[in-house]
Amino acid sequence: MLIKSHDDGFHHPLGSEITSRSAYEGRRDMLRLMAAGAAGTVLATWAGRQALAQSATVRPGKLAALPSIASKVSGAVTMEKLTDYKDASTYNNFYEFGTDKADPARNSGRFQTTPWSVSVEGLVKQPRSYALEDLLKLSAQEERIYRMRCVEGWSMVIPWVGYSLAELIKKVEPLGSAKFVEFVTAADPQTMPFVGSRVLSWPYVEGLRLDEAMHPLTMLVFGMYGEMLPTQNGAPLRLMAPWKYGFKHGKSIVKIRFTDTEPKTAWVKSAPQEYGFYSNVNPNVDHPRWSQATERRIGEDGLFAKKRKTLMFNGYEAQVGQLYAGMDLKKFY
Ligand code: MTE
Repeated sequence: MLIKSHDDGFHHPLGSEITSRSAYEGRRDMLRLMAAGAAGTVLATWAGRQALAQSATVRPGKLAALPSIASKVSGAVTMEKLTDYKDASTYNNFYEFGTDKADPARNSGRFQTTPWSVSVEGLVKQPRSYALEDLLKLSAQEERIYRMRCVEGWSMVIPWVGYSLAELIKKVEPLGSAKFVEFVTAADPQTMPFVGSRVLSWPYVEGLRLDEAMHPLTMLVFGMYGEMLPTQNGAPLRLMAPWKYGFKHGKSIVKIRFTDTEPKTAWVKSAPQEYGFYSNVNPNVDHPRWSQATERRIGEDGLFAKKRKTLMFNGYEAQVGQLYAGMDLKKFY
C-alpha cells in the first residue's frame, strides 16, 4: 500500500517489502551491523523477532458461539490449497499496529476485543447497537474458502468463518434512500500504537455500495481456520468481499452506517488517484505505479515459483460481474 511518511509525503513499499519486508530488513540490518562489528546484538534481535512471529501463531481458540461450521461447496468456493495459518496470521496489513507485515502480530497483544459492540445506524428502520454475542447468533455461521488478493500483488486462500452480511442488513431494514454502507473500525490510541500517526487518517473507514454489501458472497467474518479471528486478522469481526482488493476488508469493525452518499474511505482520502472506491480486482486496470496482471501466492515463495495470473474480479466474475454491467471499470476503479 501507499504509505504516507512523516517527512516526504508519500512512500511506496519496495518489491523487497512485498516479498517479506521483515525478513528483508532483518537480513539487511544484520549485514550492515556485521560490517560494523555488532553481529552478536543483531543476531539476538533477529532471534527475538523470529520468536515473536512464532508466538503470534498461537491460535486464539475455538469460536465458542459457533453453532455449526459447514464447508460450503458452491461455485464461489475455491478448492485451491489453503495458505498456512502461520502465514495468514503473521503476514498482515493492519496499519493501526504498524506498517511492517510482522507488526500486527507483534503489536496487537494489548488490544481488547471484549466486551465489543457494533452500532448499526444511518438510513435504516431499525438502528441499534449489537453486542458481539448477539451478532454471533444472528445467523448460522459457515466456513467459506475465499481467495484474498491484496493490491500490493500477493494473495492467500483462507477458510473464513461467518455469514453473509445480508443477514444483518435484512434485520435492520435499510430505507429506500440508503445507497451505500460505511464500515468504521476501531481506533484506540492506548492499545493501537499507530493510531494518531500520519500514516493514514483514523479511524480506518471502508465502504461498499448497498447492492455489493447485500451480495451473498460478502461476509461478516468472526473466525478463520475454524477459530476466532486473531487480533492481527481483525478480531472480533471484519469484512470479506472476495472480489475486491484486500484493503476493502475493514478489520475490527465498530460501526456500520447506511448512507445516501459514497463513503469517504481512508484510502480514497489519502490517495484518490491510486485507490478508488470500487477497488474490484481487475488485471486490466493497472495501479498508476504497478501492474495488477499477476500475483504471488503467499507460501509459494520458491526461487522458481511462477507468479499467477490475476483473475477478473479475483475469479468471482460469474457471481458478481452483473453488479457492474454497463460501468466503465477504468473510470470506476
Ligand atoms: N483494516 C484496518 N482497520 N486497518 C488496516 O490497515 N488493512 C487492509 C485490510 N483491512 C487494514 C484493514 C489491507 S491493506 C489488507 S490487504 C487486509 O486488511 C489484510 O488482511 P489480512 O492481514 O487478514 O490478510
